[in-house]
Amino acid sequence: MMHDLKIKDLSFSYKNDSKLILKDINLDIKAGEFVCLLGQSGCGKSTFLRLLAGLETSTTGTILLGDEPIKGASLSRGIVFQDYGLFPWMTAGENIMLALKQKFPNQDKKKLKCLALNTLKSVGLDESVYRKLPKELSGGMKQRCAIAQAFGIDPPILLMDEPFGALDAVTRARLQDLLLKLWSQDSQKKTVFFVTHDVDEALLLANRIIVFGQSPSSIIYECSISPDKRFTREAQFENPEIMELRNNLIFQINRDVTSRISN
Ligand SMILES: Nc1ncnc2c1ncn2[C@@H]1O[C@H](COP(=O)(O)OP(=O)(O)OP(=O)(O)O)[C@@H](O)[C@H]1O
Ligand SMILES: [Mg+2]
Repeated sequence: MMHDLKIKDLSFSYKNDSKLILKDINLDIKAGEFVCLLGQSGCGKSTFLRLLAGLETSTTGTILLGDEPIKGASLSRGIVFQDYGLFPWMTAGENIMLALKQKFPNQDKKKLKCLALNTLKSVGLDESVYRKLPKELSGGMKQRCAIAQAFGIDPPILLMDEPFGALDAVTRARLQDLLLKLWSQDSQKKTVFFVTHDVDEALLLANRIIVFGQSPSSIIYECSISPDKRFTREAQFENPEIMELRNNLIFQINRDVTSRISN
């Protein structure tokens, strides 16, 4: 498939530092999967996401998108960061337009503006937000704009780095639902690669959960949740199966840390 991701024997260290951050990562992600990556702070989750985005280059090993190695950033991979990724000197609308202009360079401005307003609507924001600067918006609204921007350019792959980390519980729950809705509505499902350190968030969103160990990280645990078993928010704290999985995930995340502290 054109948009399958294949990560083979990947390792990575930053150029200014010989310390190995990621080690021996092998992972196949099929187009349309919703993958959540869990792991302790500092284990290399954001680094791995930047590698998938093409913002860093692997030290050894390869990342293939279809048959092509990933080189540099591309419109095929939208990114949503924790800090929203909106330019502070441009209005929300201008931020969205900037992304849309890259995706549709030949489209006329009126049509693009229409599309921008529609994407704002699709994430539950009204037209007035179009003219507001990021500093005039709440965290939740900024995050909605960032999602609108990412869905507006409609990339087959969406990379999200703790996008809801800074939000209060209610706003976070709303945006999780919104993301799931937007994702499931697509007839050609996007691949979502979603970094979080919140086990419950991963259980709610993912079809597949991956856990990184401590740096130099590799995948220390992996599980799948079949789509017909997708747990609702209500079932999350009642269903014995999900409770067991939850406990296991917390155990896996901490396992590596405990063994390192005691060594
Ligand atoms: N630009 C950089 N140059 C050198 N080292 C870096 C750079 N960015 C991150 N690192 C190091 O890489 C390691 C992994 O960082 P990374 O940000 O990927 O972790 P993370 O899992 O995303 O953590 P968190 O959950 O806190 O966001 C850390 O030790 C960090 O200090
Ligand atoms: Mg990070």
